[in-house]
Amino acid sequence: MRMYDVIMKKRNGERLSTEEINAFIDGYTKGQIPGYQVSALMMAIYFNKMDYQETFDLTMAMAHSGDTLDLSGINGLKCDKHSTGGVGDKTSLVLGPMVAAVGGKIVKMSGRGLGHTGGTIDKMESFQGLSTALSEEQFISQVNSVGFAITGQTGNLAPADKKLYALRDVTATVDNLSLIASSIMSKKIAAGADVIVLDVKCGSGAFMKNEKDAFALGEEMVRIGKTAGRKTIAIVTEMDQPLGFAVGNALEVKEAIATLKGRGPKDLLELCLVLGSHMVTESGLFASEEQGRAALEEVISNGKALDKLAEFVRAQGGNPDQVYDDSALPEAAIITEILFDETMIDGLNENFKSKMQSAGNDISLSNGYYVEHIQSDEVGNASRILGGGRATKEDVIDLSVGVALHKKVGDQLHKGESIATIYGNDESKIAAAISVLKGAYRFSTSPVHTSKLIKGIVKL
Ligand code: URA
Repeated sequence: MRMYDVIMKKRNGERLSTEEINAFIDGYTKGQIPGYQVSALMMAIYFNKMDYQETFDLTMAMAHSGDTLDLSGINGLKCDKHSTGGVGDKTSLVLGPMVAAVGGKIVKMSGRGLGHTGGTIDKMESFQGLSTALSEEQFISQVNSVGFAITGQTGNLAPADKKLYALRDVTATVDNLSLIASSIMSKKIAAGADVIVLDVKCGSGAFMKNEKDAFALGEEMVRIGKTAGRKTIAIVTEMDQPLGFAVGNALEVKEAIATLKGRGPKDLLELCLVLGSHMVTESGLFASEEQGRAALEEVISNGKALDKLAEFVRAQGGNPDQVYDDSALPEAAIITEILFDETMIDGLNENFKSKMQSAGNDISLSNGYYVEHIQSDEVGNASRILGGGRATKEDVIDLSVGVALHKKVGDQLHKGESIATIYGNDESKIAAAISVLKGAYRFSTSPVHTSKLIKGIVKL
């Protein structure tokens, strides 16, 4: 196979054979095919697309490009959950304990945050001493004893995807359905779970901006999972604003703990109950989602899910006391409220102001406003600016900083009310984060309807 011919075929809109895809992935993984040729192929795929068979072949070639986990030492069906990425998404820290407390077996490999999105591995490190690098033996033994374990991605799991994703990131070829589906599913298949529950985010803060594209991505991934012999379902969920209120590592851990105590944000709890009830029924623990949901609600109300989190933290070498006393988690030194005032209408929302004036609306703050939209990635950026996220992979992050929103889409607010609290350790970073966060909000003078959290379920 000549890489030149493969590029030309795809450039001309032809389909690639299984052999061509295998040879390209093998050569690229071994460093025999240069990045510039692979960039050209990615761009050709971006414009001319791949059909299902090509997408499946690419997934399997990447899944087998390195190590695959053998989880046969774990008793019972092993379940993995994956989110396509969002802001404020701390579901893994809630779902793991909940599902394990009703007898599920959760195997989870997670990543670190980059750009405006956070990563579960960083969040977990808010617990003193907690290790996020488990050996395969430790991982299997902990899932058998505790019911769930979370570890960082092992060095050689789907290495072809690792190289390809980094290349796509700098060549504007990330947002292609086949490339996203094969990238995610290659890692899930290599990671060895029997049951894969996918949370496909849809909205302004997600890769898939509209429902049609999100369902199409969900269907493609479910089909790949099933063809590969894994029970796979996808749940399409809203990401038009951050999930819950907290964005930032230790702040999100605190919100996850509050949720396990039954005092968390409604959207986060509901999402965890929906994902969790599918995880436990697909794992064969309950006959219906209703029964699964009732069991999950019970372990929250009787404290067993919270105890399970403490057991998990202890098993991974962390301090379980921080689960019961979250004031012992990292805390920022400077706490600043952002109060709703004229500047949020005047300076930063000129378009909105003139639109309202020309429509004859009263723009004084006395009547109150409604939150119309929150740009999720900008909330994530505010947290990153405070030090809670990375601009480059090498950046060291500050676990204590972040943002706690008080107003979400549909909420009414009046002058002087707090929109959000900023947790920071550096005045100049706080000033920059406030400006970004203020710009993330859009307001309306009339009531705003919120969109549905759960858009639908893909089960082929
Ligand atoms: N997440 C992945 O792992 N891969 C993609 O291509 C997009 C999101």
